[in-house]
Amino acid sequence: MRILVLGGSRFLGRAFAAEALAAGHDVTVFNRGLSGPDLPGVQAIRGDREDPADLGRLVAEGTAAGPWDAVVDTSGYVPKVVGDGARALAGAAGAYLFVSSVSAFAHFPARSITDGSPLLACEPDATEGEYGPLKAGCERALRAAFPGRVLIHSPGIILGPHENAGRLTWWLSRIARGGDVLAPGEPEREMQLIDARDIARFGLRCLQEGRTEPYLLTGPKGHTTFGGWLAACVEATGAHARLVWAPDELLLERGVPVWSGLPLWSPRREPFAGVWDTDVSNALKAGLECRPIAETVRDTWAWLRDAPSLADDDGRINGHGLPPADEQRILEALRDGGH
Ligand SMILES: NC(=O)c1ccc[n+]([C@@H]2O[C@H](COP(=O)([O-])OP(=O)(O)OC[C@H]3O[C@@H](n4cnc5c(N)ncnc54)[C@H](OP(=O)(O)O)[C@@H]3O)[C@@H](O)[C@H]2O)c1
Repeated sequence: MRILVLGGSRFLGRAFAAEALAAGHDVTVFNRGLSGPDLPGVQAIRGDREDPADLGRLVAEGTAAGPWDAVVDTSGYVPKVVGDGARALAGAAGAYLFVSSVSAFAHFPARSITDGSPLLACEPDATEGEYGPLKAGCERALRAAFPGRVLIHSPGIILGPHENAGRLTWWLSRIARGGDVLAPGEPEREMQLIDARDIARFGLRCLQEGRTEPYLLTGPKGHTTFGGWLAACVEATGAHARLVWAPDELLLERGVPVWSGLPLWSPRREPFAGVWDTDVSNALKAGLECRPIAETVRDTWAWLRDAPSLADDDGRINGHGLPPADEQRILEALRDGGH
């Protein structure tokens, strides 16, 4: 296939470009050249997806050898921008795979969601708003611009090498420092995590097979637990670290920010009851394969330990993680039984 990746130089888009190259596809990437180098082997076209002149140049340069079979859009967040871009590309590509999010669904994270669950309200020409509704608006904009030729893939939490959010990367950095490590909730709590490379492989497979059904994409239920995930971090880093589990109530009492304080932790109650309850049975039937979490953790550590530090002075990454002094105070409270 000839594939155009809008983005392609950071995390998920980079994984799409890498997987597509490895599968022998012809890959064009379109970005501003700000987020990092492009992968060797791609045709890189520089430009801003918000600029109509740059989009015109993209189409002219990129289709000199013929139209693309598909656009893969991992960098769309604003309905108006996504809709305008899609209209500019409508005659230049056969299909359009848009990476949306579980956050676009009306009942996430309060309740379980499945493919076809209702989306949040948002107009297809919206220019501002919050992340989740805007993703829903992007989906509507695309369905209008590429009727019948859109693939909407909606991941949950994505991990893997080159992650820029600060989730697995924070946990790995913290655990590598060793000692007693504050762990949230209880080790048996199930999670649904997915590797960026597995999303990319599945997306390419759907494009190749001409599938246009929407898919939620997370690890299957039972794929891992908080305990399994963090134990994999201890093993991968080889750190002398001991996980010390703190109940939800103590973390809430001590003001640990839900979701970002100890990355991916939320208390097991409203409004987070459905956070790890996503039905991905359709994607599994269509061929989604999720590698073991230990492999994702190992490969991410292999990349991270040689990468320039992502952390701020408090050891936090991109607003994720707990400053060491706050962590120590909670560990002491646990040792004293004082909670
Ligand atoms: N992380 C998660 O757990 C999670 C969960 C659910 C869904 N998602 C979705 O998955 C996607 C992941 O994003 P990612 O950061 O990994 O994507 P990415 O495609 O790897 O990175 C963003 C790319 O877009 C380019 N870009 C940004 N602004 C641009 C502009 N105005 N014009 C042209 N290019 C532009 C960047 O390059 P330049 O800066 O050089 O232009 C970069 O190559 C997102 O759509 C997100 O909503 C993520």
